[in-house]
Amino acid sequence: MDTHPHIPVIAIDGPSASGKGTVAARVAAKLGWHYLDSGAIYRLTALAATRRGVSLDDEAAVAAVAATLDAAFLEGAILLDGDDATEDIRAEAVGEGASRVAVLPSVRAALLQRQRDFGRPPGLVADGRDMGSVVFPTASLKVFLTASAQVRADRRYKQLIAKGEAVKIQQILQDIEQRDARDRARSVAPLQQLPDAQLLDTTELTVEQAVRTVLDWWRQLLPR
Ligand code: DC
Repeated sequence: MDTHPHIPVIAIDGPSASGKGTVAARVAAKLGWHYLDSGAIYRLTALAATRRGVSLDDEAAVAAVAATLDAAFLEGAILLDGDDATEDIRAEAVGEGASRVAVLPSVRAALLQRQRDFGRPPGLVADGRDMGSVVFPTASLKVFLTASAQVRADRRYKQLIAKGEAVKIQQILQDIEQRDARDRARSVAPLQQLPDAQLLDTTELTVEQAVRTVLDWWRQLLPR
């Protein structure tokens, strides 16, 4: 169970590059709530393991890295072992590593409480793959935010080109499809749309429209 069931939580789950992070962060800012980017925690674990020379398939060793992860989430920066890792964790290779360590049950178990600790007053918006299913099963509002693979690939392509990375759209689409398949197929906490989650397909929506939709859903839950 959640550690703080009385604190309102909006859980936003969805596939890679769906824009859920941007939407979740803006919803949190609008409400004045805390924000948990749970993917960043998996990314930090993969980065820390790689830096320590730990094989990403060595479950016990990666779980030990996860259990002792020295991470700090500051306003606008994420630190690993005291150093700014905000940019490093966004690298494609780190995302790939995160998806690999995320299939390991003892790694997920080691990271559970750390994620729940983000549930503090006045409320939390959490994004990831299993926010509504495992980490915050009693969340007040659960959203499954997605977009077509083609649109997600286009969005990621534009971001990477803007950062000056030489990338091919076909490769990005293939990576996204592979990552989706792995996140959906794993036996522990797979990516899925829960029966009690609202579907938000952003294929044809702007970020602002998606944010407004989530806020409307939240307001509809409030007593009148
Ligand atoms: O959302 P993201 O792309 O930053 O996540 C990186 C990887 O971490 C993703 O491929 C799957 C994993 N992940 C997870 O298994 N559970 C979460 N709650 C968040 C991310």
